[in-house]
Amino acid sequence: MTGLSCFACDKAHDPRALATVCSACSMPLRVDYDLAAVRLSLTDLAHRPPTMWRYREVLPAPEGTEVTLAEGYTPLLEIEPNVWVKDEARNPTGSFKARGMAAAVSMAKQLGAHALSAPSAGNAAGALAAYGARAGLPVTVAMPEDTPRTFFEECRLYGATAHAVPGTIADAGRFLREHGPKDAFDVSTLREPYRIEGKKTMGYELVEQMAGEVPDVVLYPTGGGTGLIGMWKAFREMAALGWIAAGRMPRFVSVQAAGCAPVVRGFETGAARTEPWADAETRAYGLRVPAPLGGFLCLRAIRESRGTAVAVPEEAMQRATTELAAKSGIDVCPEGGAAWAALAKLRATGFVRDGERIVVFNTGTGLKYR
Ligand SMILES: Cc1ncc(COP(=O)(O)O)c(C=O)c1O
Repeated sequence: MTGLSCFACDKAHDPRALATVCSACSMPLRVDYDLAAVRLSLTDLAHRPPTMWRYREVLPAPEGTEVTLAEGYTPLLEIEPNVWVKDEARNPTGSFKARGMAAAVSMAKQLGAHALSAPSAGNAAGALAAYGARAGLPVTVAMPEDTPRTFFEECRLYGATAHAVPGTIADAGRFLREHGPKDAFDVSTLREPYRIEGKKTMGYELVEQMAGEVPDVVLYPTGGGTGLIGMWKAFREMAALGWIAAGRMPRFVSVQAAGCAPVVRGFETGAARTEPWADAETRAYGLRVPAPLGGFLCLRAIRESRGTAVAVPEEAMQRATTELAAKSGIDVCPEGGAAWAALAKLRATGFVRDGERIVVFNTGTGLKYR
């Protein structure tokens, strides 16, 4: 790791400090590496442990400082010819949020944080509570009050303080800024630079698990956008490492709920930034993010990869969730169901063609939603 720079204006920031957003423009920071100096090939990985830390040369925490529960290296299951589900339910705390929190908590602890906090749609809160417990740091989270009870119970099980707040994740963030512990370091989505680093390992795993091949299309349920942005970053890094050809990338499909689709609207209107979504409503709580800070990066990732964005109505999402679970035996969450529904739509429109290699992300367990 060589430093931090702003994703929007490129201003450099000190990586030795507990970093938040850009001091000049308040946009998210990017972690930079000297990739030309990294000596890591796909064959080097064969004997490494099956966790996201197998890619440690392109992760920020120095060896021995990681706070880990053995996250990552989740199964890539072929469920139809040329269609795979990347099953992120198989992470500690049951979602891909474990990857981001493992990286963020490792760095926060190393850089001197005494306590941690974050607003969440549910899964990030559970992951932060678990990794805070693992690190020995107190955690405070806030979630919309209609988040299923299991998410609150999970956080409290790990010893965290969990607040229920009226409104959406945006209101939960405001609540923490006004009433949260003043000494807690805020690990909200994209308000610190390291969660993206953990999540980008999903992209590295796809290429490793496909033996160096790049899938044609990746369908990703998008809320705050860290998964999508992280994978986009990973494919650029893998090209610099010589793992894949320069410019090679899957077409990224950002999947959102019709009741909260700021990225889809931004894509369809040709905008450079997303606009806040009024009256956000969906049972896929992870997708209920009305004003993602990284909306402009999601739009860049979609356009640069010649991808697209799809909004899925609630009924289609619910149907697709049960259909995918019954068809595959995978523990599917509503967000994963949305991605499955989007695939059917994109086959019908011709965006996805016969014979293309498709990866659908099931980002978490469905069990906590019941
Ligand atoms: C299950 C699930 N899927 C997808 C998302 C969206 O994640 P991202 O912030 O990477 O867009 C979330 C976020 O809460 C989630 O919990």
